Amino acid sequence: MDYIPLIEGILHEVGEIAREQFGKVTETVKLEDANQVLTATDMEIGHRITQLLQEQFPLHNIIDEELGVVDHASEYTWVVDPIDGTSNFARGLPQYGCMLGLLYQGRPLAGGFMLPYFDELYVAERGKGTFCNGRRLTLPAHMQLGDSLISYGIDGHREAPEMTREECSVLAELILQIRNLRGSNSIYDMAMVLQGKYGAFINRTSKVWDNVAQQILLEEAGGVYTDVDGRAIDYRDILAFPHKNFTFIAASKEIHGALLHVLTPTF
Ligand code: IPD
Ligand code: CA
Ligand code: CA
Repeated sequence: MDYIPLIEGILHEVGEIAREQFGKVTETVKLEDANQVLTATDMEIGHRITQLLQEQFPLHNIIDEELGVVDHASEYTWVVDPIDGTSNFARGLPQYGCMLGLLYQGRPLAGGFMLPYFDELYVAERGKGTFCNGRRLTLPAHMQLGDSLISYGIDGHREAPEMTREECSVLAELILQIRNLRGSNSIYDMAMVLQGKYGAFINRTSKVWDNVAQQILLEEAGGVYTDVDGRAIDYRDILAFPHKNFTFIAASKEIHGALLHVLTPTF
């Protein structure tokens, strides 16, 4: 099955919803996490993606960040982040997107995201490559960490402030090794990696719906996507534990290796 046209169609449609509502919606802070916000647009897009997926694949599983889990005990699991970068979206910042990934037997098979403000649609499928608005993307060869703009997204842990302080000291070590730090803490930063503009995107606080599409997009563009210890990301049991935390380093092969060297002793 060719998933690319299907993913493109869904993301085009819901990207329009986000674009129309951009700058017009208000946020609510999530009760369980003061760093996370929600808007009515997240809910509307989540419902629409779920409806479109269920029409096409009534027996596939779905995990949506806001709507929860539909478990059909299938080998296929769609993961939906209706708006990634909701806090940007709600404040009128353009770095946000709609994201959709597909796991088959616990491995990323296909995925994509739409950046409505920039009118860019990124899509990939295992063995078929990564494309932005139809143009094939390949990460540049021979990137150097010292010349790179690197994105590192950090969420504060108010319940455990020592974690945030420790992460900021790790960040200091990183900043000493790179050209400059960037960070919108959203899928926009992944787009910049796929375009070869940023050398890497790193985050220690993410969920399955943040990772599946990013991973397949990066791997099909020639990059390396692991957790911050350099291990393969383990999506097994995700239906039972949809809120499991993931860390990730998304980068070209050279930068990924150099980053592990810088970050591993400190993590
Ligand atoms: C997440 C938040 C969070 C970040 C995650 C994001 P959301 O996206 O921006 O701060 O650490 O990695 O995916 O909640 O806007 O979908
Ligand atoms: Ca989201
Ligand atoms: Ca997200």
